[in-house]
Amino acid sequence: ATRGPKKVTSNPLPRIPLFSQLSEEAFVAVLEELAMRTFSPGESIVQEGEPGNSLFAIVEGRADVVRQLAGGQRRKVASLGEGDFFGEMALLSAGPRLASVVAAERIVALELTRKQVDRLVQLHPSVKQVLRSFHEERLLANVLR
Ligand code: CMP
Repeated sequence: ATRGPKKVTSNPLPRIPLFSQLSEEAFVAVLEELAMRTFSPGESIVQEGEPGNSLFAIVEGRADVVRQLAGGQRRKVASLGEGDFFGEMALLSAGPRLASVVAAERIVALELTRKQVDRLVQLHPSVKQVLRSFHEERLLANVLR
């Protein structure tokens, strides 16, 4: 079970490259509403096939990206850690989550709603480009497997 949402008290965003270009004001504007969430080892943070309306950025811990193959097997396709983000694929495609993300350790993550992501993108259009390039890269990686 999660212990959040809880308001963020210190600023973890500079540790997250996606956000490192943002001005202090942009941080503060968005940060006020950001939820910090924690997940226990083994817990699913997002589930493949479910609708997704938020983006996660890992502040602490490692998580596995797991996909279901034809035939029902599950395969670990990536491992994510501090500073990485996930959940951009469902946000950008308006489709379901393309993988499950499972906490391999205790995870502390920021969860941004679609609305918060939109607001960040308005302030800093470069965020959209970063999200898009990761989306494309991960899409390709999954297709090539
Ligand atoms: P989304 O599909 O919304 O939810 C699952 C997330 O896992 C996905 O967004 C990506 O952020 C992430 N993901 C999927 N495939 C990969 C991959 N091959 N490498 C890294 N991350 C991935």
